[in-house]
Amino acid sequence: MSENVIFCFSGSGNCLDIARTIAKKLGDTDIVMMRREPAYTDASHARRVGFVFPCYAGGLPGRVEEFVSQIKVGDAYTFGVVSYAGYPGVGLRHIDRIHPLAYWTGISHQSACIWLMPHTLMVPPLSPERAQQRATKLAEKAAADILAGKRVDKHPPEPAFNKLESSVWPTLCKKKAKDFAVSYACVSCGQCARICPQGNIRLVDKKPVFGDNCIGCLSCLQFCPQQAINMGGPTLTRERWHNVHVEAADLMEKVIHID
Ligand SMILES: Cc1cc2nc3c(=O)[nH]c(=O)nc-3n(C[C@H](O)[C@H](O)[C@H](O)COP(=O)(O)O)c2cc1C
Repeated sequence: MSENVIFCFSGSGNCLDIARTIAKKLGDTDIVMMRREPAYTDASHARRVGFVFPCYAGGLPGRVEEFVSQIKVGDAYTFGVVSYAGYPGVGLRHIDRIHPLAYWTGISHQSACIWLMPHTLMVPPLSPERAQQRATKLAEKAAADILAGKRVDKHPPEPAFNKLESSVWPTLCKKKAKDFAVSYACVSCGQCARICPQGNIRLVDKKPVFGDNCIGCLSCLQFCPQQAINMGGPTLTRERWHNVHVEAADLMEKVIHID
């Protein structure tokens, strides 16, 4: 049983990188990935329990809220960190309602939403190298605050626009997923099927076929070693991007333990 548990969702690696940076400072931490079924949901033994996740369309990705509702926290010190490209959205507030957060913060990073905008768009505008340095520094600061038991004495914000945006996202996302296409460059490696957190991709005649349960994380597209997956016109020419410290195999782990 580890002293700390961080429940993490990550589509293109930013949140896993942030979670690992925090875990390295805390020591003795399990990072439990909230992709498919989390390895465990009972963290009542832990001294500190954290949630690290990205903002998707102003809200939480996929089934994160459902997973968080299943987690047992005991009397741990709780913290939440949201990663986003432009604004943090309502995700922290939703988690705070389920497990009141002693400490929370947001860390902006490169945008993972390739069909909407290039990865270089973020607030503040920074080069990928500077964005990574800044995110690491902010994650280290969050870890120092968490170690010091710092508390944020107000609830995370819940802007009305983000509430609306996140409520329509699941429907839009399913529509958008109809734009998935696989090019001749596909070598049938099957990584997309293995990395999909929803189990939404199956191989038919060795080629990926997308089901109707996509949550838009784009792990399949961003990590495809052949850049063979597209999602509408803009992705045909846009540079792929994922966090520089995270490989596809990392996202497929169920639990990552950091001593
Ligand atoms: C489907 C999707 C929706 C997103 N929506 C938002 C958003 O509403 N606001 C925002 O600031 N960033 C948004 N982003 C950007 C991510 O929050 C940001 O890139 C984050 O760092 C990704 O974390 P990850 O690499 O751990 O998945 C979105 C990304 C994706 C893939």
